[in-house]
Amino acid sequence: MKKLFFAALVLVFILTACGSSGTAGGEGEGDKTVGIAMPTKSSERWVRDGENMVEQFEELGYETDLQYAEDVVENQVSQIENMITKGVDLLVIASIDGEALTDVLEQAERSNIPVIAYDRLIMNSNHVSYYATFDNFQVGVLQGKYLEEKLGLADGKEGPFYIELYGGSPDDNNAYFFWDGAMSILQPYIDEGKLIVPSGQTDFSQAATLRWSGSEAQERMDNILSAHYSDKNIDAVYSPYDGISIGVISSLKAVGYGTDDKPLPIITGQDAETASIKSIKAGEQTQTVFKDTRTLAEQAVSMADAVLKGEEPEVNDTETYDNGEKVVPSYLVEPVSVDAANYEEVLIESGYYTEEALK
Ligand code: GAL
Repeated sequence: MKKLFFAALVLVFILTACGSSGTAGGEGEGDKTVGIAMPTKSSERWVRDGENMVEQFEELGYETDLQYAEDVVENQVSQIENMITKGVDLLVIASIDGEALTDVLEQAERSNIPVIAYDRLIMNSNHVSYYATFDNFQVGVLQGKYLEEKLGLADGKEGPFYIELYGGSPDDNNAYFFWDGAMSILQPYIDEGKLIVPSGQTDFSQAATLRWSGSEAQERMDNILSAHYSDKNIDAVYSPYDGISIGVISSLKAVGYGTDDKPLPIITGQDAETASIKSIKAGEQTQTVFKDTRTLAEQAVSMADAVLKGEEPEVNDTETYDNGEKVVPSYLVEPVSVDAANYEEVLIESGYYTEEALK
């Protein structure tokens, strides 16, 4: 009788330990929580990134704590501190300022909480286990090649064409990769005089856009147009990100671009945000780079799952992303160039957007 009672007790104990607190598909991970720190809700992509991760983590039986910091670095630091205090089991972080998290990651390290950098590399810390991102240099190459092709430079046109250049946020490591990728294509044409930058702002530091701000980009374009374009029209704008492209387009339209006599320049972008796809459909923005946040979320979630199970996550790059302390093993997803010719196939047929969402 005693033996039976003991066996029943053991069974109850096992069942309780395995119980995944009711979360769907639980594989025994239901008692683990993943803290997800995202930069801002003001850009649609991060909202989708967050939703995709929550959904996928929950499918595997994890709890999640998703926080947005509205691009305020201090908010993000204190959100991460709170997650550490609450005892999350792992952190997935898309940083606002990649250089501002060194101290808080030390706290995570002291509490044995592994960290995965999401889309943006976290700099100057040993305590970044893995990095899930896109091939960021390739993003810039796709943007640069698009300009090269649409201006006819690839087919031998001499120009010269007038172009202005935008860089991303200088506190985001990705911004340098996009810039370097784009310049690997554009710089030779600038050197040959086939592309002319009338503002003379050809260094990343002059072209950078803090926090990827569309309004800052718009203001800079206002100034450039009034100072350097009174006697000429601009042919192309290298923009690394949709929010910047939209700001630039507002500036251009305010001085009369967008008519048959004065067409908008060719303008690139990134993220395939709905506002930009609508703009592309309307013939304003010309191109964007689609980064499938579903796939990136899948990579980050499977990395996290492996780490939490003590397994080795899959990576496909162990050389590129040096954060100043170490080369962080990474998984890079391929970006895809999108314009009016292929947005339906890439974005609608793949189920990323409904046709309705892009009206
Ligand atoms: C970058 C990211 C881009 C874009 C940008 C602005 O870090 O790689 O896809 O989203 O931030 O949010």
